[in-house]
Amino acid sequence: MSPAFNDILAPSILSANLAYLAQEIEDLITAGAHWIHFDVMDNHYVPNLTFGPMLLKSLRDNNICAFIDVHIMAKPVDTLVDEFIVAGANAITIHPATANNPKATLNKIKSHNISAGLAINPTEPLDKFFALHAQINQLLIMTVEPGFSGQKFIDSTVAKIKQAAKFIYENNLPIRLCVDGGVDLNNIAMLKQAGCNTFIAGSSIFNKKEKNSNPYAHIISQFKLNLRG
Ligand code: DX5
Ligand code: ZN
Repeated sequence: MSPAFNDILAPSILSANLAYLAQEIEDLITAGAHWIHFDVMDNHYVPNLTFGPMLLKSLRDNNICAFIDVHIMAKPVDTLVDEFIVAGANAITIHPATANNPKATLNKIKSHNISAGLAINPTEPLDKFFALHAQINQLLIMTVEPGFSGQKFIDSTVAKIKQAAKFIYENNLPIRLCVDGGVDLNNIAMLKQAGCNTFIAGSSIFNKKEKNSNPYAHIISQFKLNLRG
């Protein structure tokens, strides 16, 4: 039996109102979000430019203590990994093509007691995961091409999710199975059924912001309801 993982809902701040980021994070966590997903893009490995370690450090310096799941889409990745370790990341996921030596980079992340993740793009097979599974705590299956929020979920990735889940289960591996891209209220139960336990969602959460004292309470509770099936 594979270790049972609790379900994690991780809103991606790529879709947040960045002028009020600390407040957005506090509202999300108060509403019941488990992790905060932090997308790092470099306008080189992916065609978009977002946040660096200075922003994470600034959040930490201002008492944001939420679990921050850093997803680095930048090449070369190694210096950034060092900086995110210092800045206070709780999890760091890399794409294998961005590191000189992915095994060493993942081992370094783990050696700091930070959850080490490997991301697989929609067009990539699971080969790198099979080769590096002993180095990781979480596998991130990308269900859109990395770069932007609000893209359509790529249905053909579900077969890969099932293949990864089977491998994790049959080999009793202590690895979280995360899904990122186009996750919404309509497909989250199917993704859980396919074997995912960690759900990253950007536009489908932030587009449903309400004018309540907690603008995310309703949408987060709806996600959790759909996860319970
Ligand atoms: C895409 C990012 C995602 C993005 C997801 O490259 O890695 O985390 O924020 O956004 P949605 O949920 O809108 O597809
Ligand atoms: Zn992401």
